[in-house]
Amino acid sequence: MPIHGLENYSKASKPAHFNIENVIRPNILALLPYRCARDDYQSGILLDANENAMGHSIEATQGISVDQFVNLDLHRYPDPAQIEIKQRIAELRRIPGPEYVFLGVGSDEVIDLLIRVSCTPSKDKILITPPTYGMYTVCAQVNDVPVVKVPLITEGGAFQLNIPAIKEAVARDSSIKLIFACSPGNPTGTLIPLLDIKQILEDPKFKGIVVVDEAYIDFASKDDSTAQLVEEYSNIVVLQTLSKSFGLAAIRLGVAIAQPPLIQVLTNTKAPYNIATPSSVLALEALSPSSIESMRSKVASLISQRSSLIESLKPLAQYGLGSPIGGNNANFLLVPILDREAKKPDNTRSVKIYKELAEKRGIVVRFRGDQLGCDGCIRITVGAEEENKELLKQLEDVLKTF
Ligand SMILES: Cc1ncc(COP(=O)(O)O)c(C=O)c1O
Repeated sequence: MPIHGLENYSKASKPAHFNIENVIRPNILALLPYRCARDDYQSGILLDANENAMGHSIEATQGISVDQFVNLDLHRYPDPAQIEIKQRIAELRRIPGPEYVFLGVGSDEVIDLLIRVSCTPSKDKILITPPTYGMYTVCAQVNDVPVVKVPLITEGGAFQLNIPAIKEAVARDSSIKLIFACSPGNPTGTLIPLLDIKQILEDPKFKGIVVVDEAYIDFASKDDSTAQLVEEYSNIVVLQTLSKSFGLAAIRLGVAIAQPPLIQVLTNTKAPYNIATPSSVLALEALSPSSIESMRSKVASLISQRSSLIESLKPLAQYGLGSPIGGNNANFLLVPILDREAKKPDNTRSVKIYKELAEKRGIVVRFRGDQLGCDGCIRITVGAEEENKELLKQLEDVLKTF
C-alpha cells in the first residue's frame, strides 16, 4: 500500500530486508490525512480556516519585543506545569482552579490524548456526530480506534444532537468510551443546548466521557458554555483554544477543562514539556485583563461583521446563493450554493465556484458540500471589513458567471 502523499517515491535504498510498509501499523498506512484548503492555496484573502481576521488581542502597550524572547531562558526546558496560565483560564472561565485545567499543543493534541488515554486500539470506540470537525476521526484512525457515527438532526439546518439515537448507540455498544459533541459546531456554527449535553451526561447506560469541543464558544450569542457543568459532572471534558477568539492559532495552545482526576491522567500522559516557552509567554499576556478586554472587543467586531455579511449575502439569492444554514454562532458562515435556478443545492457548481474563487480571484473559502446535511455548502470565515467586501464582490461576479 503506498504511503499517502508519497505516491511517486521509488528510491532504492538499503537494507534490502527492510520494508517500511511492514513496520507501520496498517491503519496509519491507510490514513487519509486531515486536509485543509491551505494545502492547496496559501495566498490571497484567506477565509478558509476560521482564524481570527482581527489578529491577536495582545495589547501592544505591554511591549512584547524580540528582545524579550531572546532574554527568555530559551536553553531551559519550559515549565511543565504552567500553573499561571491555568490559573488565568480558571478565572476567565469561572472554574474552581488550575487543577481543573490541562494545556495542550492546540486542542488537536488534547483530542488525540483523550483517545489515547481512554481507548484500547481496535477494541474501544468513539462516537461522533457528523457533520463535525474532521480531527476526531483522524485521531481515532491514527490510534486504530473505530468510530461510531450518530448524525446530527440536520433537517432545516437544525444541526442538533439526536439524543435518542445516541442513547441507543451507547446502550447497544459498551465499548464506546468517548462521545464528541462540537458546540458551536464546525462546520454547523450551531450551539448545542446545555440541557442536551446534560441528558447524555446523566444517561446511566453511558459509562464513558462526553467531550464538548468549544473552540468557537466566545463567538456564540449566549453563554452556553458547558464549562459551567464541570464542577458538577465528572464525566465531561470541555475543550477550548486560544486559536480562535484570542487570534493566536500560531502559538498552538489548547485547553481542556475537567475535574482533577481526568486532568491528572492527561498530565501524566502528555510529553513533559509540551507547551513551548515563547507560546506560554504570549498566552500569559493574552490572558491578562487588558488583553482579554481587547479580545472581547475584537470578538464583538467580528460578530458585527458576521451580521453585516449575512445581510450582504441576501441580494445574491437572485444568482443562486442560499441563505446561511445553521446557527451562525461561530466566526464563519455555512452557505449553500444552489443551482442556477436557485432551487436546490448544487455541489458541482459549488466546487467550481470554490475553485474559481481560490485560483482566479484570490479568495480561499472552504468547500463543505461533501459533509452530511451541507449539500452545496461553502464555509466562509468572517473576515475583516475590507476582506468581506472583496469576498462579496468576487462571489457576486462568480455566481453570475458559473
Ligand atoms: C471544532 C474545532 N476544534 C478544534 C480545532 C483545533 O483547534 P486548535 O488550533 O486549538 O488545535 C478546530 C480548528 O479549526 C476546530 O474547528
